[in-house]
Amino acid sequence: LNNGLARTPQMGWNSWNFFACNINETVIKETADALVSTGLAELGYVYVNIDDCWSSLKRNSEGQLVPDPKTFPSGIKALADYIHAKGLKLGIYSDAGVSTCQVRPGSLYHENDDAKLFASWDLDYLKYDNCYNLGIEPKKRYPPMRDALNETGRTIFYSICEWGVDDPALWAGKIGNSWRTTDDINDTWASMTTIADLNDKWAAYAGPGGWNDPDMLEVGNGGMTFEEYRAHFSIWALMKAPLLIGCDVRSITAETLELLSNKEVIAVNQDPLGVQGRKVHVSGPDGCEQVWAGPLSGHRVVVALWNRCSNATAITVNWEVIGLQSSARASVRDLWQHKDVVGDAVSSFSARVDAHDSHLYIFTPHTESLFKNLVQSE
Ligand code: DGJ
Repeated sequence: LNNGLARTPQMGWNSWNFFACNINETVIKETADALVSTGLAELGYVYVNIDDCWSSLKRNSEGQLVPDPKTFPSGIKALADYIHAKGLKLGIYSDAGVSTCQVRPGSLYHENDDAKLFASWDLDYLKYDNCYNLGIEPKKRYPPMRDALNETGRTIFYSICEWGVDDPALWAGKIGNSWRTTDDINDTWASMTTIADLNDKWAAYAGPGGWNDPDMLEVGNGGMTFEEYRAHFSIWALMKAPLLIGCDVRSITAETLELLSNKEVIAVNQDPLGVQGRKVHVSGPDGCEQVWAGPLSGHRVVVALWNRCSNATAITVNWEVIGLQSSARASVRDLWQHKDVVGDAVSSFSARVDAHDSHLYIFTPHTESLFKNLVQSE
């Protein structure tokens, strides 16, 4: 969507994966405090997004949405002021149907009123869900809210949460700033790997202004190992997924913080070229030795060696699968070790990767290799 936002994938936090409906204004404020005190805000995690269950079960007599008085007694505008004072942005949630998934009022046929209300609360982001949609096509239900948000004059990030039902990558680029490509993630290795594969299919449709959304991060929620979370974060970064933290930042562990704070990995996700990396090669039993890669600015290439096998194994990337001439020389930097591991790799690179772990590298072809490519492509 050409509203000036999402030039790179959105970064922040969302309440759903950890808190589900157990949210209140204190949790949101304390999370904002924690994003600042942990340094995550400074690294770019600026959207603080409230998911389902913030609203009362009924609209008021004027037909307006009302924050639940028990859990959000100060109202959403006061919360936005608090969040903005910290240099962060506040997001909210509604649904392109008659009810939200947790059966709060939805915004279908209330788009203009609700968008005006959200703008009057100074909100910065809307996640728009797909429950209770009366069987109306998503292509008809999602544009009215885009137009309504646009009408408000406030620039609001528009996150389409259509779960990939009607292949939104094919039509949502002009409607939203990101669109979910899959059903909900859960905090397991099986869910995370399945979702990565489903999202991969739509790589060609992502770019500045609109991103494929394979759902929010589960890093730090306890259902995967450190290595599995490292793979989760590496692949989400490489495939230009929104980086929306889904754990309780108030009690984040040093390990989780180490993963989410890796500046070099974040820079891959936020690279200005904005091309979604893809699964480019598989080998080994059931294709469990995987190479994922994509171009970065400055003729660089990001490469993940992702071991989905149940034992440690060596994985090799050949230059031709990442678009380099086989004679090209490249330096290789390991983004998790924060080290330049090889100065002049030629034709391939291999590393031993632990079970379920992923290494993440940036390959920088030497200038003379680029020059050769240029000459040959003429
Ligand atoms: C379904 C969405 O896909 C989830 O991310 C979450 O927003 C829930 N609905 C909330 O009910």
